[in-house]
Amino acid sequence: MRPVAPRLYFDWNATTPPLRAAIEAMLAAYEGAWGNPSSVHAEGRAAKARLEEARAEIAALVGARPLDLVLTSGGTEASNLAVASPFDDGQGAMVLAPLEHASIVTLARALGRRGVDVRFAKVRRSGEVDVDDVARLVAEVRNLRLVAIQAVNGETGIVQPYEAIAALAHARGAVVHVDAIQAVGRIDAPEGGWLAHADTVSLAAHKIRGPKGIGALATRPGHPLRPLLLGGSQERGLRPGTQDAALAAGFALAARAAREGLAAYRAIVPLRDDFERGLLSLGSGARVARNGSGPRVAHVVNVSFDGWTSPELVAALDLEGLAASGGSACHAGVPEPSATLSAMWGEHAGETWRLAAPVRFSLPPWTTAEDVERALALVRRVVVRANPGERA
Ligand SMILES: Cc1ncc(COP(=O)(O)O)c(C=O)c1O
Repeated sequence: MRPVAPRLYFDWNATTPPLRAAIEAMLAAYEGAWGNPSSVHAEGRAAKARLEEARAEIAALVGARPLDLVLTSGGTEASNLAVASPFDDGQGAMVLAPLEHASIVTLARALGRRGVDVRFAKVRRSGEVDVDDVARLVAEVRNLRLVAIQAVNGETGIVQPYEAIAALAHARGAVVHVDAIQAVGRIDAPEGGWLAHADTVSLAAHKIRGPKGIGALATRPGHPLRPLLLGGSQERGLRPGTQDAALAAGFALAARAAREGLAAYRAIVPLRDDFERGLLSLGSGARVARNGSGPRVAHVVNVSFDGWTSPELVAALDLEGLAASGGSACHAGVPEPSATLSAMWGEHAGETWRLAAPVRFSLPPWTTAEDVERALALVRRVVVRANPGERA
């Protein structure tokens, strides 16, 4: 029988394993701070104290004041809260690019159906939002209320020109929402912190080794929001519903670790580059190309494999023991091309083959040279030995 080698988890952008310390902080809170934070008795006060301690730690990660941080059910809800807020009356305009996460693009399209003037900016082949096109759009629209720009694209890992785009939006008096979910804890914050160029910043705990089911929206002091849910006065009425101090405690622990863990990401660049070089030179006629040439986070490689489809290839790699992802994990199983890749390559005849089989490898910061070697051997086994001709 073939010896079972440990699996390789190269899908860090989909989610990360919770830190042991975050799990322990949650267990401690489930035992000692399980009360309702809104209750005035001792059990409630214990939960409230743990919740507020956690809020301060999470706010520190993005340089926000604790009272400007709204805890939500995750990144999706945080971005929804930020993006929907200025459009309560169904008027005004919004600018974004099609490579934003579905939590923003889907909402924008819904706002468009309700009367908001929604404009999509072009994306360059480099994987970066076209700043000139954003400049054109913000000058063209009337009553611009919001510009949404992600800090890092989840699929390609390309760092977006969010500072330049924010400046264009602010010059027109619009609100800037930055989805920093794939950026915080992975790349340095801009000078002045994550809120230096944004009015609102969304975060998700599970991308930084915290628990799922909790995220946050940080805002500039006094930035107005409109709740999506109606109910009690929790989270200053901006996110009604009983808070879970244990989830917040796990998030806080992960936030602290993220502030200290940036160096580990930087250190894997040479290994990531080795892995990428290996993929691009698989040989035996395998056509493999990198998607995105702009500045990138340290741990992501996105390449397309000619003659494959993403689900087919991701499944074959999984069987061999390697977890990767075809496009955005949120669209797994849905046979539509990635919006990010379509925006980059859709209009370039001769390059549309890339849309069929993009595979994202997002390496954990603990990746070793041996892991890279093993992953390359495994991909080679799948792609070269079972090349499309032979598979038929
Ligand atoms: C850039 C980006 N924004 C938002 C989200 C959504 O976060 P969540 O799944 O926590 O709702 C993700 C998750 O993949 C993401 O990568």
